[in-house]
Amino acid sequence: MITVFGSINLDMVIRVADFPRPGETIPTKGFAMSAGGKGANQALAVRRAGGQIRMVGLTGADSHADLALALLKEAGVDLTCTGVCDESTGLAFIQVEDSGENTIAIVKGANGEVSAETAERMLADLSAGDILLLQQEIPLTAMERAIEIASRTGAKSVLNTAPFQTDYISLVDRVDVVISNETEFDALMPGSKPRPERAKQFAQERKRLLIVTLGADGAMVVEPGCEAVIVPSPKLETVVDTTGAGDTFCGYFCKMLADGVDPVAATRKAVAAASLACCKNGAQPSIPLASDLD
Ligand code: RIB
Repeated sequence: MITVFGSINLDMVIRVADFPRPGETIPTKGFAMSAGGKGANQALAVRRAGGQIRMVGLTGADSHADLALALLKEAGVDLTCTGVCDESTGLAFIQVEDSGENTIAIVKGANGEVSAETAERMLADLSAGDILLLQQEIPLTAMERAIEIASRTGAKSVLNTAPFQTDYISLVDRVDVVISNETEFDALMPGSKPRPERAKQFAQERKRLLIVTLGADGAMVVEPGCEAVIVPSPKLETVVDTTGAGDTFCGYFCKMLADGVDPVAATRKAVAAASLACCKNGAQPSIPLASDLD
């Protein structure tokens, strides 16, 4: 079983030709609301990849929660450990420009209420062979406790270091697998050496599997004691929206890991899924099914 412990958001998305500059007012090319949150997106990606998945997180007792959870429900994600609190459901304000790039500002809402106590209550039944997948949109103390529970029970912990937060850096030393994008990795392991060398050193010193996603260039896989392996991405004619591509990668990667697939083959599948996710609008609406990849 794979468990995601993380955020649930409702995304408010506007499309713009170019991001506005400070002080500028611009017209948009459209507005949409869709389900999001890095945790929920990753849970849906596991499910669409064909995996069994449980989502642990919090929403508010409001109508935004229904929209935020709709696609997870429809896909059959286990939501029995998704609770409700007094804060409102998390929101993300997203601008997507014509290049497909985005900017995201978050109102953490209920996600900020996820606590160490939530972890104790909802993750008590983790067991050896399970995978716990985490991102950095819930409080640090909750994540620390969740990782502690995973290591106590023998579950494998996978940390996606997005969104990057300096306070959370020490977590990379406590998990089994780290998935970062280039910017996050450079912040974790700064230096003048080429990235593959730094990645090799990171994986070797910490004795853990490291994946660095490289955007349009694919991803780099580094197992401790091994050279970095680059998995290239298929070339896309048009990038529509990159929102949620990293989440799609993490969900697919964990599903493959749970199936016992080796890290390079798992990355190959995850890169293909993340590329497809860039071809449609929205975070959750764009996550492909396993059959789309075939
Ligand atoms: O990774 C994309 C996600 O980041 C969006 O769905 C938004 O909710 C933010 O959490």
